[in-house]
Amino acid sequence: MVKDNIIITSALPYANGEIHLGHIVSTYLPADILARFYRSIGKNVVFTCASDDFGTPILLQSEKQNKTPEEYVKYWKERDLKDFTDLGILFDDFRNTSSKENIKLTQYFFNQIYNNDLIYRKEINQLYCNTDDKYLPDRYVLGTCPYCKEDNQYSDGCEKCGRAFNHSEILKPICAICKNEPVMKTSAHYFFKLSALSDKLKTWLNNNDNLQKDVKNYVIRWIEDGLNDWDITRDISWGVNIPLEEAEGKVLYGWFDNHICYISTTIEHLNSKGINGKEFWNDSTIYHYIGKDIVYHHYLFLTAMRLAINEEYKLPDFIPTRGHLMLQGEKFSKSRGMYIGLRDFLSDFPADYLRYYLTRITPYDQSDVNFDWDDFQVKINNELVASIGNFIHRVLSFTNSKYNGIIPEPKELDNDDNELIELIQESKNKVMENIENNHIDRAMKNILDLSDGCNRYFQKKEPWKGNSENTIYISMNAVQSLGILLNPFMPHSIDKLFNTMNIEKKKINWENCGELKIEANHKINDAKILFEKIENKAINEQKQKLK
Ligand code: MF3
Ligand code: ZN
Repeated sequence: MVKDNIIITSALPYANGEIHLGHIVSTYLPADILARFYRSIGKNVVFTCASDDFGTPILLQSEKQNKTPEEYVKYWKERDLKDFTDLGILFDDFRNTSSKENIKLTQYFFNQIYNNDLIYRKEINQLYCNTDDKYLPDRYVLGTCPYCKEDNQYSDGCEKCGRAFNHSEILKPICAICKNEPVMKTSAHYFFKLSALSDKLKTWLNNNDNLQKDVKNYVIRWIEDGLNDWDITRDISWGVNIPLEEAEGKVLYGWFDNHICYISTTIEHLNSKGINGKEFWNDSTIYHYIGKDIVYHHYLFLTAMRLAINEEYKLPDFIPTRGHLMLQGEKFSKSRGMYIGLRDFLSDFPADYLRYYLTRITPYDQSDVNFDWDDFQVKINNELVASIGNFIHRVLSFTNSKYNGIIPEPKELDNDDNELIELIQESKNKVMENIENNHIDRAMKNILDLSDGCNRYFQKKEPWKGNSENTIYISMNAVQSLGILLNPFMPHSIDKLFNTMNIEKKKINWENCGELKIEANHKINDAKILFEKIENKAINEQKQKLK
């Protein structure tokens, strides 16, 4: 059972490039739908995110553009937030990992963990490039994965097998800038004793039934294979300073501070509203939405760090994890032109079309999701337009034309009327249960089945032959119910719908779904078409853009 306080976070986008559909599918849309749903049933929801500012790739890019890293990340933070907003991803707050508050909380974590003897210092050999005259952390080194032997991997983790590792473990390293072989040079680094927390991590995983079983199993296997202590130090200037005198000039690895920003952003947000953020955090149900490429960091690093300070900040209840996005059956990849940026998409199609389609095709598991332009067109035209939109429009325009927009007084309800009301109530329960269990694709299918049922009802009643009072009265209430159910998924369209229906969104709640809240004599406005068909031409243009 979830608590009254709900905290939802989406993995933080690196402040290093635009948001694309791959980000949306696993991380932002499912989180936003859940946040909107829980708000609509009256929970205290805080949905937060931030830009992930630190790390070598960002430093490298800012140098290339002759900007300070601060200027560089500010640009991307603003741009990303604008794109999210246009898609209707409604964060309660969006901050950044390089904020004062996050730096402070990160240094607090470091000190506490250090005092608990779970961080130690060790001289290690670091890869160093004599040509470029610098230490080469993470993205500065390419080599072969020590576990699965995949070539061309960065030195902090393998994209093929998903393991994170320390950069001295990478095989056959070369400098990513000049492609020369680096040399070894010693440097003092701080290590987090991940290995010491193995048992606690395993217990936590085993006891948490909310986590997806398939992910849990392979994380447990990683633990059983033996965890390595984690190098949390970088010899660069852009990062959170390690708060020890002896560590001058060294910063923390970005994966040490970034997830702490879930906490700092949420707590700062609540504090600014006069609510005790820390108490709220510790008395809430917590969701961290991620894509499957960062399982290691969330199920192990994040969790271990909270365990290492005696759970002063509550651990997550859910870490909903989903697969990658494919495009036309191929790997989604900017460099190979198989790519769709969010901003581009939104300049050609309404935001809710994307929300509808991605919801329909995204299961709650690790399998990859395929965005296919033809399938997009089919699902929009045959489902959203032909079923959902069609029912809504028929009812509204019939009411406009036959009743001057005024809902008629019903007579005694017949079997068909009552059956439709029952169907709405059953659908509502299914939709709720599926959303609560993260099965948003199934929830959307429930709604689609309901709208099919509504169309059958309307067709069977033949209101155009007269005697249409009940049909319009019941149908109008069905339209409102559909609106309530669809609202977390397609908020822009439902705003428009409720405007046309002349009802205030704020005044309706989830419980009204299946109730006959729209009464006789209520007057609606002129109907406008909510969803329009996508022509072949528009789809062909999109296909042309690929490759
Ligand atoms: N920026 C990271 C990525 O895109 C995700 C960070 S999520 C955090 O892979 F919680 F750890 F910040
Ligand atoms: Zn590997």
